[in-house]
Amino acid sequence: MLVNKKILLCVSGGIAVYKAVALVSKLTQAGAHVKVIMTESARQFVNPLSFQVMSKNDVFYDTFDEKDSHVIAHIDLADWADLVLVAPATANVIGKLANGIADDMVTTTLLATTAPVWIAPAMNVHMYDHPAVLRNIDRLYADGIRFIEPSAGYLACGYVGKGRLEEPEKITALVSKFFEPQNLPLKGKQVIVSAGPTLERIDPVRYLSNFSSGKMGYAMAEAARDLGAAVTLVHGPVALPDPSGMTVIAIESAEQMLEAILSRYDAADYVIKAAAVADYRPKQAAQQKVKKQQGDTQMELERTPDILATLGAQKTHQLLIGFAAETNDVETYALDKLTRKNADYIIANDVSKTDRGFGADQNTVTLYGHDFVQHFPSTSKRALATQLLETIIAQSGVAK
Ligand code: CTP
Repeated sequence: MLVNKKILLCVSGGIAVYKAVALVSKLTQAGAHVKVIMTESARQFVNPLSFQVMSKNDVFYDTFDEKDSHVIAHIDLADWADLVLVAPATANVIGKLANGIADDMVTTTLLATTAPVWIAPAMNVHMYDHPAVLRNIDRLYADGIRFIEPSAGYLACGYVGKGRLEEPEKITALVSKFFEPQNLPLKGKQVIVSAGPTLERIDPVRYLSNFSSGKMGYAMAEAARDLGAAVTLVHGPVALPDPSGMTVIAIESAEQMLEAILSRYDAADYVIKAAAVADYRPKQAAQQKVKKQQGDTQMELERTPDILATLGAQKTHQLLIGFAAETNDVETYALDKLTRKNADYIIANDVSKTDRGFGADQNTVTLYGHDFVQHFPSTSKRALATQLLETIIAQSGVAK
């Protein structure tokens, strides 16, 4: 699959640079053309000559050292690549790319390329767990960049944990798989994802809502997009930028969310209901600002439509995936929602913990199907979203 594929390998400075030499060897053995760019720090670990010998190409590391006067090297390399691989990727290079910083040959090329970019991080376990690094990784996921997660094991710094650059053989296998056409299991599929809270107006200046950040729903939408689906994201009020490469519909209330989804439901193959829909709304939204009165007051609330249950009742061929955010008896409530709402899967998370669930960047969930259950340990919401979708696809087969 790699014959004549053009892989641009960006190498940043960590002890795992030595493994990147083996990676070039594996990629070229598989038939790829490989060109290498190194950061200054990477050159502290391995001499560029090693990469030159392995790739049989010049190695680049200085933005201002233009080897060919006919082209600008970083633009030329950026345009040349079918795939750009950053391996090993340090916390520094991840941070720079997440923030659009281009101050060396690697980062200028990364901003200049329109080819898919894959990042294989390698760093100390605590660095990898740092909220700033997780934030940057999530940002890059949102930008459409894919990650080859580090494996766990003995780290050069003496720690045992997650942070080891994935083995060159595994990276080569993943890259090969990427170039196989069947690698996009959701290609040709329509996926609707709902995300964020809904907002139910009390009067022109007040509303009922909840603390949903929308992060998990956005992560699901991005994961579906990257697996090849045509995605429609229907979201309530959130503070997240629109993800690229999908149709994005902003709504406010549960009623509007229901309408937006129902009008697209027939054509949908998958519906992922990650939204935290308000269960009640004021019976009468006031047209003018409600003035305060002496003493206490009461507000009459009515039920909003249960969107997932409505979709469940009208289901023909669609695969319905709901969420259950619970603070207690997670399994009992999740299984109850699975049958009561006629869903195919429920993704349950315990929102009583502050470091996961609502607003957090990490999440721990359990996936419940009919006769199926799988727990997913704590990981970034974006990585988790891909794992969940891949599991659901493997379990159910791609929706016909
Ligand atoms: N849901 C929905 N419409 C609603 C309420 C919930 O579509 N009016 C969906 C959510 O998007 C989620 C699933 O139903 O996928 C479960 O949501 P949750 O709020 O946990 O469940 P509820 O049905 O509201 O049950 P309860 O309040 O008893 O937990």
